[in-house]
Amino acid sequence: MGINSSVALFSLWVVALSLVLEGSCIGKALGTTVTYDSRALVIDGKRRVLQSGSIHYPRSTPEVWPELIRKAKEGGLDVIESYVFWNYHEPVRGQYYFEGRFDLVRFVKMVKEAGLFVHLRIGPYACAEWNYGGFPMWLHFIPGIQFRTNNEPFKIEMEGFLAKIVSLMKEENLFATQGGPIILAQVENEYGNVKWAYGTSGQLYVKWAAETAISMNTTIPWVMCVQDDAPDPIINTCNGFYCDQFTPNSPSKPKMWTENYCGWFTSFGYPLPHRLVEDLAFAVARFFEMGGTFQNYYMYFGGTNFGRTAGGPLVASSYDYDAPLDEYGFIRQPKWGHLRDLHKAIKLCEDYLISSEPTQIQLGLNLEAHVYYKPSNECAAFLANYDSSKDAMVEFNGNSYSLPAWSVSILPDCKNVAYSTARVVSQRHIGDNSFASRTTTHRFSVGPSGWSWYKEPVGVWDNTSFTYPGLLEQINTTKDASDFLWYSTILAVDENAAEEAFLHIFSLGHAALVFVNRVSVGFGYGNHDEPSFNLSQKISLRPGNNSLDILSMMIGLQNYGPWFDIDGAGVYSVIVDGFGNRKLDLTLGDWTHQVGVEGEHLGLDNISLANSSLWKNGASTPINQSLIWYKVTFSAPEGSGPLALDLSSMGKGQAWINGQSIGRYWPAYLSPNTGCPDNCDYRGAYDASKCQRNCGQPSQTLYHIPRSWVHHGSNLLVLHEEIGGDPLKISILTRTGQEICAFISESDPPPPDSWKPNSELHPQSPQLRLSCDKGWLITSVSFASFGTPHGSCGSFSPGSCHVDMLETIRKACIGKEGCSIAVTTNNLGDPCPKVLKTLAVEALCSE
Ligand SMILES: *[C@@H]1O[C@H](CO)[C@@H](O)[C@H](O)[C@H]1NC(C)=O
Ligand SMILES: *[C@@H]1O[C@H](CO)[C@@H](O)[C@H](O)[C@H]1NC(C)=O
Ligand SMILES: *[C@@H]1O[C@H](CO)[C@@H](O)[C@H](O)[C@H]1NC(C)=O
Ligand SMILES: *[C@@H]1O[C@H](CO)[C@@H](O)[C@H](O)[C@H]1NC(C)=O
Ligand SMILES: *[C@@H]1O[C@H](CO)[C@@H](O)[C@H](O)[C@H]1NC(C)=O
Ligand SMILES: *[C@@H]1O[C@H](CO)[C@@H](O)[C@H](O)[C@H]1NC(C)=O
Ligand SMILES: *[C@@H]1O[C@H](CO)[C@@H](O)[C@H](O)[C@H]1NC(C)=O
Ligand SMILES: *[C@@H]1O[C@H](CO)[C@@H](O)[C@H](O)[C@H]1NC(C)=O
Repeated sequence: MGINSSVALFSLWVVALSLVLEGSCIGKALGTTVTYDSRALVIDGKRRVLQSGSIHYPRSTPEVWPELIRKAKEGGLDVIESYVFWNYHEPVRGQYYFEGRFDLVRFVKMVKEAGLFVHLRIGPYACAEWNYGGFPMWLHFIPGIQFRTNNEPFKIEMEGFLAKIVSLMKEENLFATQGGPIILAQVENEYGNVKWAYGTSGQLYVKWAAETAISMNTTIPWVMCVQDDAPDPIINTCNGFYCDQFTPNSPSKPKMWTENYCGWFTSFGYPLPHRLVEDLAFAVARFFEMGGTFQNYYMYFGGTNFGRTAGGPLVASSYDYDAPLDEYGFIRQPKWGHLRDLHKAIKLCEDYLISSEPTQIQLGLNLEAHVYYKPSNECAAFLANYDSSKDAMVEFNGNSYSLPAWSVSILPDCKNVAYSTARVVSQRHIGDNSFASRTTTHRFSVGPSGWSWYKEPVGVWDNTSFTYPGLLEQINTTKDASDFLWYSTILAVDENAAEEAFLHIFSLGHAALVFVNRVSVGFGYGNHDEPSFNLSQKISLRPGNNSLDILSMMIGLQNYGPWFDIDGAGVYSVIVDGFGNRKLDLTLGDWTHQVGVEGEHLGLDNISLANSSLWKNGASTPINQSLIWYKVTFSAPEGSGPLALDLSSMGKGQAWINGQSIGRYWPAYLSPNTGCPDNCDYRGAYDASKCQRNCGQPSQTLYHIPRSWVHHGSNLLVLHEEIGGDPLKISILTRTGQEICAFISESDPPPPDSWKPNSELHPQSPQLRLSCDKGWLITSVSFASFGTPHGSCGSFSPGSCHVDMLETIRKACIGKEGCSIAVTTNNLGDPCPKVLKTLAVEALCSE
């Protein structure tokens, strides 16, 4: 076959390499050396195959970081990746903040305590659907500045922040060479996507960014993602749904994948993105098959865009991302389990992967194997069928294998299948999202001690307003201190004539409420892909002066694209048509501007105003009103798990729990009715719109309240409702359990963690495994059949061949966190010899 030729050469080369590295280790007792070669990152002299996952520290709370990291480790990750968020770490130039959710040092130390590595993407540009891509707003107002190009004022600030973070990490001994967990750092971020817009200045900037990073003496490798021309020794890495075809820009650099999208982010007014795990696992397996050695899930845990951290525009508060850990930190199945099994199967191949380059063998049309050898000539193999529809049988190494379309099978001994990307043997959940099944709804008490409200004025509310000839650009005017900017003017009508007219407003974004004579007459908005919009509205004017007030709203600053930092927002032109039979262009007229709404200025979200006499209270709480603040006190539901606030009865606004913002809400914005397939086929290339769900529904009705933000006794919920809603229907949900299921056939591979080579010597059996999240126990089993059961998870029924396994499974599983049953006729009996049988189980995890 000629597939063992390069082995001897390789082993010599590896020996030489490790000698050099051992030499360089002397005198660094505590530290870990991190270098790289053509094949992999080299840690303490050994090439490593690494699985990584993104967890952005401010998108959860320090109280749950350890649990997220633990679940990532149990899921088979070696590395946790995060961006660093400049705008929150340096909110005012020269004033730093590293507390609470932004305690970067604490986060990195927690990852170290768990025994995992860190990839720190310092940037400082983050993108990340984060407000302004992570740039502080003050940067925009430095005279002469141009972002992300060869511009002195920008380079001074960028270098300053890079140096600040590097020195903070050094002081805390967090780099690997100091005994810390950080093995990798990133400078800039996906600049290759936009460099065309920056010309030669952009090229100079890339060179400067690379040199600046290297000059920081981090003693670990740096990467630049999506940067074909990353200068040596910086490693250029791939981001995308698939990266198996990627090659780094030098033969001395390893093939690395820094963003593998587990799903996609959600924007208000869009359906929910969804990526099936069979395709995600296929992408990962293909990458390692074709020579990759480092892969990072973006996101492994997405979390929540609390406060006004969401970028955009119009990115939702949930940053769930369809990740293996959901927005609330619960394990999402089968995604988490199928990837855990994949990581174990790849780990079984690690010694082979680091010993050689792959040898490719064509097995047919769209069918191929890649084989990795150890010096001993033993091998591991990946068999791939990358056809998007045709299943196939292939011959490999004297055996035949069935390869479903769009799948990779992993053979850690070149013989027995430890894992197939197309066959999910881990357990599943019934219901798509974590709050879909087994929740308890807690309603707020209604009555005199129930809801209070404050109706804020329309238009100018304070003498901080100012009048200007023309409409000012919103970001320059608010400096992002608020989402809101009022534009107010007067329309004078002849004393003897009432008129009907058409108002035409063009806005650069992102939404606007329009009032004539203080009465709401229209609401316009854009979307994530097209934030600008037109609003045309028939209005009635009375004789004399009429007030026109436009409340322009921003919903997250742009975070992506060439020159995104100078994108504008706010009202751009206003024309009144049919006004005394003429067209009146008010665009250049006098406009009074006021930053923010009155309630923000009063601080109604602040807990110190909870008992203020500003709040009104009475028998009938006003509903369906724009620009109104609501508050209620409530006792938190018992338990220790996260809470979800159901705001489906509300319009658009922001919510605070005990003074902390849980984010913007906008359940009134429904996604289009079309674009969600009834059945999603994982086979074939994925893109973010392929398997969407929730068409015609609000993008987000549930909003995450971290458990640590509530306490015993009375808690305060404040809402700022902008367009109209009904607070009386708001409730809080807790999770009380999860319905689970699994089905395993006699022919499935054993779980990769119990897999052993040469299985004829150590017969391994397939196992049906169940386990519960969050300390729940298996409390009931509703279905268990061995034979040929019909249906799918949640709707199984016995087939013609059937042994009832209820008693067996109940005995093995009830009262336990998890259980495992060998799927063999020895263990379960044989109701129908010579027929391929499956064990199917449905059970409940709960308190
Ligand atoms: C990095 O090391 C070089 C050479 O030792 C030194 O000149 C330079 O000042 C160091 N830079 C930093 C940021 O520590
Ligand atoms: C605005 O009003 C406050 C009192 O509400 C007053 O102290 C302040 O001087 C006023 N500012 C201007 C510019 O008129
Ligand atoms: C708004 O209207 C203007 C003028 O008719 C048009 O050029 C522009 O494309 C419209 N914008 C949107 C977002 O519809
Ligand atoms: C109408 O508004 C103008 C300012 O735009 C003001 O000068 C005038 O006094 C107002 N007229 C009345 C009747 O309020
Ligand atoms: C904001 O103001 C600066 C000058 O202060 C100007 O150069 C820039 O064009 C303005 N941005 C927008 C979007 O209007
Ligand atoms: C809330 O009000 C208190 C007292 O006025 C103040 O010290 C605190 O800074 C305010 N909190 C916020 C988040 O504005
Ligand atoms: C508001 O009043 C309640 C009841 O008197 C009291 O328990 C609470 O501490 C007060 N809250 C504040 C912020 O003063
Ligand atoms: C509130 O608005 C909703 C939706 O527009 C409408 O169905 C409902 O009748 C309104 N309720 C009241 C009391 O106005």
